[in-house]
Amino acid sequence: MKLDPFRLERYFAQHEFATPYLLCSSDCESMVVSDLLAFEPGADERLSALWLGYTESIGNPALRQAITTLYEHITADQVLVHAGAEEAIFNFMNVALSPGDHVVVHAPYYQSLGEVAHGVGADVTRWQGDPERGWELDLEVLKSALTDRTKAVVVNFPHNPTGFLPTSEFVQELSALSDRHGFVIFSDEVYRGLELDPSDRLPAFADMNDRAVSLGVMSKTYGLAGLRIGWIATRNDRLFRELAAFKDYTTICNSAPSEFLATLALGHADAIAERNRQIIRSNLNRLDLFFGAHTEMFAWERPKAGSVAFPTLLQGPVDEFCSDLLKKKGVLLLPGTLYGPEFKSFRIGFGRRNLPDSLDRLEQYVRGSGDKR
Ligand SMILES: Cc1ncc(COP(=O)(O)O)c(C=O)c1O
Repeated sequence: MKLDPFRLERYFAQHEFATPYLLCSSDCESMVVSDLLAFEPGADERLSALWLGYTESIGNPALRQAITTLYEHITADQVLVHAGAEEAIFNFMNVALSPGDHVVVHAPYYQSLGEVAHGVGADVTRWQGDPERGWELDLEVLKSALTDRTKAVVVNFPHNPTGFLPTSEFVQELSALSDRHGFVIFSDEVYRGLELDPSDRLPAFADMNDRAVSLGVMSKTYGLAGLRIGWIATRNDRLFRELAAFKDYTTICNSAPSEFLATLALGHADAIAERNRQIIRSNLNRLDLFFGAHTEMFAWERPKAGSVAFPTLLQGPVDEFCSDLLKKKGVLLLPGTLYGPEFKSFRIGFGRRNLPDSLDRLEQYVRGSGDKR
């Protein structure tokens, strides 16, 4: 399989650990191991006593059980643990698609969601949100894209990079359309749980639809990206078995310490996610003030969920803006061109505690370049 370079990941590989002010990260604030262990008395002794042999290929049973608490109708044997969400995306596309199949992908998209399907030999149609309407998706557009070769529809709610979150009526209609047509919904829900108003939380597709696959991960909502623990949840037995067998060729099983720590974290999922939502609330208030003061330069729409948004730069090329900001102030934004050459937006991330420092420097930059204009 031939894959194009993953533009966003190449950009992060170059800058993430060399830049002091990351203002486009999609993961929430992380923590050190001792802070996680402190959630439960005796957890540090249990970690020290952990056996470091191979683990169960489908995932540690206690972890799979902990993951079921995030769903309504999913049992532990319907959860397949992977090395991050990324492995699950790679494996799903390889298992569910064949050359000549058709797949529709919610766009702009995290590149692997479309690129791996393309690498498998499937035809990929972008289903793009409307920037004039808060990046809303139109089901009529999807319906007209469907063919008898359409095997899967890939969606990502809350959405990276736009922050778009549909209504629950919308997802019910999408689920009903999948029942009528027969395509599988692959639902990337890695930002689920980061809704600022809990009543906006959507049902997981794996709960709603017995063919759908829900994708989850420890990286975003829980800020534990270094664990590299992701999973799929599905009631689709055949797909589950095929995915489990495919994993024998990628990672076989997961890291035992990571499974232990992920299980511990999910025992306190609400507390960890609430800590991160508090950070997001406070950061969004600052972003509202910042963008409110610079309406001539940026178009900003406050998202209802997630840890990223996609404001538009109203003046000048976005690549130049991001690279000049990085050079002069050490602040990293992600130019929208990494999602496609047509985008004039940039991704901003607001799940990290140091956002106020990064934003101060962006403010200095904007004031400085404003003086020159
Ligand atoms: C929408 C989406 N899906 C999947 C992933 C991959 O997650 P992970 O790096 O934890 O495997 C990301 C990471 O940025 C993402 O934004």
